[in-house]
Amino acid sequence: MILATGATGNVGRHVVTLLLEAGEKVRAISRDPATAGLPDGVAVLEGDLRRPETLPAALSGVDRAYLFPVHDALGDFLTGAREVGVGRIVLLSSMAVNFGVGNEIARWHAESERAVLDSGLPWTFLRPGAFMVNDLGWAHSIRADGVVRAAYGDSASAPIDERDIAEVAVRALLDDGHEGQAYTLTGPASHTQVERVRILGGVLGRELRFEELSREAARREMERFMPPEISEVLVELLASTVGTTAEIEPAVERILGRAGRSYAEWAGRWAGEFR
Ligand SMILES: NC(=O)c1ccc[n+]([C@@H]2O[C@H](COP(=O)([O-])OP(=O)(O)OC[C@H]3O[C@@H](n4cnc5c(N)ncnc54)[C@H](OP(=O)(O)O)[C@@H]3O)[C@@H](O)[C@H]2O)c1
Repeated sequence: MILATGATGNVGRHVVTLLLEAGEKVRAISRDPATAGLPDGVAVLEGDLRRPETLPAALSGVDRAYLFPVHDALGDFLTGAREVGVGRIVLLSSMAVNFGVGNEIARWHAESERAVLDSGLPWTFLRPGAFMVNDLGWAHSIRADGVVRAAYGDSASAPIDERDIAEVAVRALLDDGHEGQAYTLTGPASHTQVERVRILGGVLGRELRFEELSREAARREMERFMPPEISEVLVELLASTVGTTAEIEPAVERILGRAGRSYAEWAGRWAGEFR
């Protein structure tokens, strides 16, 4: 039995579906199973990494797990996993840890990796860079008036399709040879924000405009959804990548035997959200 935590998330949802397609027995936890909306065939239990009393039922009979990094809350899960003999943990982490713990996001993920290392359980770490799915945050203003408003339009990244992260997670759960590996995961191409808006416009068949916000205005906008220490990290990341070309990491292609999905392919899948 494979347990998926974070199963209702952008990545976890695909992990669950792909495991079912591979014929695996899958259990998922959610803090609210009634709204989880997971496919038939997966057993969904109420589970909360911050509520240890929910974990024994979730972990019973489990031999492998996809672990979502709920910050500062992995200890009870990992203790329980050791007790039932879980033999493989695939942790969703972040590329941020590759650059030291100079900011909050990197520190949180480094602490999650440390917790898994300290548990002594066999592990694989997935360290993706920016997710393509973040750009769904542009959907409202694109639908409303064909505009994306953000800071540092010329900042570059190599965003990754959330499905590709999930496919790598599934390979690490099902195949041998991934134990003790930390995989940095990127998409197949470096794009600036302005270029992503252009690609989106091409897919939608509609002229879109990028409107550059000041750093302060962008932070104010972000802080409607996130704490200031995180908006500062994200805005600084954009500032620091202006005029650069993002590195493309080889792990997705090596593990999946094909290039990562392109931004245009991702946009095509999500086109309905932008129309
Ligand atoms: N977005 C990016 O560009 C990026 C880049 C690198 C790394 N990351 C990392 O990737 C992660 C986000 O992944 P995602 O987008 O797949 O997730 P997501 O869509 O943000 O979903 C969050 C998931 O976490 C689960 N969850 C939250 N609190 C929980 C708790 N206390 N106990 C159990 N489950 C809990 C939620 O489950 P329920 O609500 O069903 O309980 C949900 O499935 C973050 O750690 C982020 O730092 C993101």
